[in-house]
Amino acid sequence: MTTVAIIGGSGLTKLKNLHITRREVIRTPYGEPSAPMVFGQLCGSEAMFLPRHGPGHTIPPHEVNYRANIWAIKQTGVTRVIAVNAVGGISPDFQEPGTLVIPDQIIDYTYGRDHTFFGADQKQVTHVDFTYPYCDELRNVLIEAAKRAKLRVRGEGTYGATQGPRFESAAEILRMERDGADIVGMTGMPEAGLARELELCYASISVVVNPAAGMSKETISLREIEKNLETGMAKVRSLLEQAIPLIAGV
Ligand code: HPA
Repeated sequence: MTTVAIIGGSGLTKLKNLHITRREVIRTPYGEPSAPMVFGQLCGSEAMFLPRHGPGHTIPPHEVNYRANIWAIKQTGVTRVIAVNAVGGISPDFQEPGTLVIPDQIIDYTYGRDHTFFGADQKQVTHVDFTYPYCDELRNVLIEAAKRAKLRVRGEGTYGATQGPRFESAAEILRMERDGADIVGMTGMPEAGLARELELCYASISVVVNPAAGMSKETISLREIEKNLETGMAKVRSLLEQAIPLIAGV
């Protein structure tokens, strides 16, 4: 039985180390997920994979159908979700490209995205607790897996989710820094909130691919980001190789 889903972000549209056994197109009341769900084995343990931006990386962050993705994952019966997110680094200790972060908090700056399953069609107004947006059990597994893979990881941090697709202004980043955000990305929300609404245990591996706007003398370069994505995602793959068997054994 597959117990864990991996949502791949920029730089991770395919999981090279996943031995694919089948693909399934899952329909949802919210429309199409970003891609067919890919099932397979990673280091001998069952896992499934969904590329958030589509198989060809064509869906921008603000147009991802987050509800369909999370609903489809829930449908398969998995209970744990590892999200992979490329981010910019805001706090000094988080700026170095290649830094891996397992965030423990999130601030939502996105707008206009379909962010809930609990709309007016519900019989009763429903609120979910989101004090601790990420699943600590899964976070701890990821931190342990990083240790086993001999990867340095920041085991805490606050993820600021922005709307994109443009990068932020320097002033926006300064505001986010004052708010307490350590890293900035465009896909953390509403994904984490939707996972909580469906009672999925959800955690993120965030990979720093650039210093956030205004945090270095240079402007943000897509070429640099692409280079950093490649090395960062290689680290993510080795972290996952340790994490998936740990999760399957829980
Ligand atoms: N800002 C927002 N999202 C990002 C960044 C950034 O600097 N880098 C990678 N994703």
